[in-house]
Amino acid sequence: MSAPPKKHTSNAIKFLFGGLSGMGATIVVQPLDLVKTRMQISGAGSGKKEFRNSFHCMQTIVSKEGVLALYTGIGAALLRQATYTTSRLGIYTYLNDQFLERFKHNPGVLHSMVMGTVAGACGAFIGTPAEVALIRMTSDGRLPVAERRNYTSVLNALSRITTEEGVAALWKGSLPTVGRAMIVNMTQLASYSQFKAYFRDGPLKMQEGIPLHFCASMLSGLLTTMTSMPLDIAKTRIQNMKTIDGKPEYRGTVDVLYRVARQEGLFSLWKGFTPYYCRLGPHTVLTFILLEQLNKAYNTYINSAKANV
Ligand SMILES: *[C@@H]1O[C@H](CO)[C@@H](O)[C@H](O)[C@H]1NC(C)=O
Ligand SMILES: *[C@@H]1O[C@H](CO)[C@@H](O)[C@H](O)[C@H]1NC(C)=O
Repeated sequence: MSAPPKKHTSNAIKFLFGGLSGMGATIVVQPLDLVKTRMQISGAGSGKKEFRNSFHCMQTIVSKEGVLALYTGIGAALLRQATYTTSRLGIYTYLNDQFLERFKHNPGVLHSMVMGTVAGACGAFIGTPAEVALIRMTSDGRLPVAERRNYTSVLNALSRITTEEGVAALWKGSLPTVGRAMIVNMTQLASYSQFKAYFRDGPLKMQEGIPLHFCASMLSGLLTTMTSMPLDIAKTRIQNMKTIDGKPEYRGTVDVLYRVARQEGLFSLWKGFTPYYCRLGPHTVLTFILLEQLNKAYNTYINSAKANV
């Protein structure tokens, strides 16, 4: 006996809603993402500090390029969210189903962790082209006009990267992208339950409920941000780099880490920490709220309509 066929249609809806709610949240946090990227690129090569802090960075962008500049690359951000979230959810569900079919019982914590990490890594790989387009579009405005790439949209960016640099260029920085996704997932999975246990059973004796979940996820998010930022800056620098006289600026992930630490200071590996951390909470909460609303609407309008047939 196999799973009831009804589940397959609802899976498609689940991926769609997962992708859509992530995209909705992305629209709200896009300016923070742009500021993070600009912070990460600032000081590349020269080591000179371009901005005092993230607020100064945002102020500078708004006064030099206008408020709308905070939303450059939104198309790429949405495409990244759509490709990454949907493929991650899809692969995770597929692996889960395969596990059930083979072993006839639900996967335990460890197996879920492995499948989550594999799904996250695959999703990150699939999402890399959109990410390359995003990084390049968000960073273009800081360059002098003559040096800009002038991508007009995400599709234009993808097709120009393919024709100008070859298909492989779309997967520039996929190694740190995949590594980052895996670190994010493992840190999150490992730390969230630990923090929750601490707040519940430790000196604070918090009750199960929203405040407890909030505290645990804020701290877990802080740890996740700290562990994943160095790979994030490596990803940003590699995806944005240009080849000058046949020589790429960086040779790879390790080269970025080493040179940023040496030329700009060890803590520069965490450039853009503030906007990155501030983006995390609202993105998670908004995705969750939007998902709830989509599910509710689906149940009221579609499922009840089906039931009435
Ligand atoms: C990490 O993996 C788990 C499954 O173990 C999944 O539920 C979760 O959404 C993943 N998180 C991220 C940020 O990829
Ligand atoms: C982008 O546009 C500017 C101004 O029109 C131009 O100087 C520059 O060469 C363009 N960049 C590319 C890569 O075509």
